[in-house]
Amino acid sequence: MTVEPFTLLAPILSPESATSASWIPHGALSVDGSGRILYCGEHGGLPETLAGLPTRILDGVLVPGFVDCHTHLPQYDCRGKFGVTLMEWLDHFIYPEEARFADELVARDVARRFFHGLLEAGTTTAAIYSSVHARATWVAFEEAERARLRVILGKVLMDRDAPDALCEPVATAVRETRALIEAWHHKTPRLLYAVTPRFAPTCSPALLRAAADIAEQTSVYVQTHLNESPAEISLVSSLFPSASSYTRVYDEAGLLGPRTILAHNIHPDDSELDLCEERNAAVAHCPDSNLFLGSGRFPLERYDGRSIRIGLGSDVGAGTSLSMPVVMRSMAWVQGRSLHPFALLYHATLGGARALSLGDETGTLRAGLSADMVEIRIDEHFAKGRHLTDLRAIEAASAVVYRSETHDIRRVWMGGELLYDRDGPGSLIPE
Ligand code: GUN
Ligand code: ZN
Repeated sequence: MTVEPFTLLAPILSPESATSASWIPHGALSVDGSGRILYCGEHGGLPETLAGLPTRILDGVLVPGFVDCHTHLPQYDCRGKFGVTLMEWLDHFIYPEEARFADELVARDVARRFFHGLLEAGTTTAAIYSSVHARATWVAFEEAERARLRVILGKVLMDRDAPDALCEPVATAVRETRALIEAWHHKTPRLLYAVTPRFAPTCSPALLRAAADIAEQTSVYVQTHLNESPAEISLVSSLFPSASSYTRVYDEAGLLGPRTILAHNIHPDDSELDLCEERNAAVAHCPDSNLFLGSGRFPLERYDGRSIRIGLGSDVGAGTSLSMPVVMRSMAWVQGRSLHPFALLYHATLGGARALSLGDETGTLRAGLSADMVEIRIDEHFAKGRHLTDLRAIEAASAVVYRSETHDIRRVWMGGELLYDRDGPGSLIPE
């Protein structure tokens, strides 16, 4: 993919860590022909050699594209189905919905709208569950490739305690997963595979082990759910009586490592946090989903001082929205207070990228990284007559985190390519 090199002039807000962000009110960002950031800094410091590039002045603030560490494509049309806790919600709403993905036309229609939804929300990288269907997963990869987004995507694996139509023998799961990895993992630098055992209640020990073997042999990611609800945790202890904890079940199967993304983990005991830390497995915190299903409160203070990487996930469809600003705000509401906007911005961008082992590729605006960027409009009433460039860093971050809506996402670039222009044609994904 080549792009015409260019420069953007805009206020730039970019995370550096969970406690710091860089704010450059008079910023400039130049992109090279391969879609990488050549320069990001003060406009006044723009190197002479870049001064002649085509230049565009933006009205909004430039931030990194958002990173969604956990979401379900086949649940896109199933958001907001209220009334029950996790296990009933899966039985009543989710399994019947995912069964529809046996139909390729359904799979393609939803995948197109889902990727458009991500783009419109300013999300440029996402870790995504497909359904159990190999064909639907193939179609999801095709649509991700068309949308040009960076995805870590995998076919769900289940072999028990779910409707027959969604379960399959271990041998079939292995054959289909291997074929998908062969076809799609690294087909382009933005398409990556995750072996996706749904969660321990619907996977036999043999399936969990087979999943771990594939991941180890092919160096792909692993994604699964962990410690989301009390009823789920009791079920796991009765299904795996010899394991000392839910996390141990995955560890004994060989599933925990630096490329493992564990969704939720909101009810771990200390030994489970120790194990996650030892194995360097990452956690996808999904606060909007936790609030919707009443799953419980993420014990943020117990992660404090530990090296466990934490990214944020929308967890659509238990999460109600693909919007990472909505998810950032939910992270604060779960804690019962406003969290510092630098911390929230970090978890939705660079922290998420690091959780996905992609921190050297995306998640912040720095020379050498992929130019994955979003322009967010900040409404003039926030600045109260001052110019955007007069805001302090914490004000700019507060506006982005606590005030922005999806309609404030004005433009989205992926690898320097403009993929969405709200004031122009909208989506620029090629047909
Ligand atoms: N646990 C197992 N499957 C799911 C799912 O689809 N959504 C959520 N939130 N939790 C799960
Ligand atoms: Zn989930």
